Amino acid sequence: MRQRIKSYCSTRRSFLRGGLAAPGIIGAGLMARSLPAAADFDFDDRPTHGDINILRFLSALEILETDLWQQYNELGGIQDKEVPGGSGNKAYTDLLSQIDGDMPQYIHDNTEDEFTHFNFINHYLMSKGAEPVNLDRFRTLQGSTAPGAQNIKRLTNLMELTVDTSWWTRYRSRTKNPDFGDKFAPAIPGLLKGKFPAIPRSAADLNPPDHLQAIVNTAAFHFGTIEQGGSSLYPALAQRVSSVEVLRILLSIGPTETMHFQVWHDKAGNIGPVTDPTNGLVFPDLTMPPFDGNEDLQANLIMPEPTIFLSRSLPVCSIIRPTATQGAAAGAVAALKADGLFIGQSAAFFAELNELAAKADMAQRRG
Ligand SMILES: [Fe+2]
Ligand SMILES: [Fe+2]
Repeated sequence: MRQRIKSYCSTRRSFLRGGLAAPGIIGAGLMARSLPAAADFDFDDRPTHGDINILRFLSALEILETDLWQQYNELGGIQDKEVPGGSGNKAYTDLLSQIDGDMPQYIHDNTEDEFTHFNFINHYLMSKGAEPVNLDRFRTLQGSTAPGAQNIKRLTNLMELTVDTSWWTRYRSRTKNPDFGDKFAPAIPGLLKGKFPAIPRSAADLNPPDHLQAIVNTAAFHFGTIEQGGSSLYPALAQRVSSVEVLRILLSIGPTETMHFQVWHDKAGNIGPVTDPTNGLVFPDLTMPPFDGNEDLQANLIMPEPTIFLSRSLPVCSIIRPTATQGAAAGAVAALKADGLFIGQSAAFFAELNELAAKADMAQRRG
């Protein structure tokens, strides 16, 4: 105990010594008794290299998220100055609106949010003298040529997705948690057995009607897949942040991903049953068994069920899952890659993304 007190005192002395050298801090030191404790703490709250690496990785992922959401918005969102670019595709938007009349608004707002996420993080990085992230050199992918889409190159591919919908059963389970190594069945098994478009690739995809319906349903589930990933990534990485201000950034952006996820989780439950006549992709009727009357699948059970957390000896708890921090950045990249989101991207793109993830995963909390 004595040792601990001594080491605290010496840290405190070195803080005061360092502070005295800087103009304006003498007063702060003398006023310490009347100032809140945060005055000490601000002095030493500079982001560490690890913090910068976590923020740079998050900026990259937010740029990628923005790119995919922009593609959805151009074809299926509200078209306005807030999110410029596309002109909308009526057939695609009409079917999205059948899931919920507000779908175009939600797509628009989710897209706008993503723009602000990477833009804020990049400006924060610059304000701390760190390099912002720019992935423009990797904008090489051909996007949709369907009416409504911009004719520009993309970072992400929404036309060959293998969508993992296991978040549906993961958030309904009362006994399992991926942080304990548990696996979860997908809600829509067919989406894991091929490569499916989530946007019309061209005007040819607007018919037959059941084909376009399957594309819309794929999008409706992909929205949730993307946003549940962000819901886990932010708390996972926050555990290795040192600066309280950087922690505040992660704790303030992360829950907006969860707000998005909760909306998309609810809306995915409204899709109608359909079989795509062009590729056999099946969306079952979510109002019938096995979905109806089964707690692991029932569509309106969108609130997270309490489940095991940290230790099986503790009581179950309603939580975000997973939140394990080790390898969280590399895990997020692997999940997005497995979704098919980066099909067509260059080796240089993967090298850049993997390096950003590796550096984020090496970050340690300041001891
Ligand atoms: Fe985001
Ligand atoms: Fe997001």
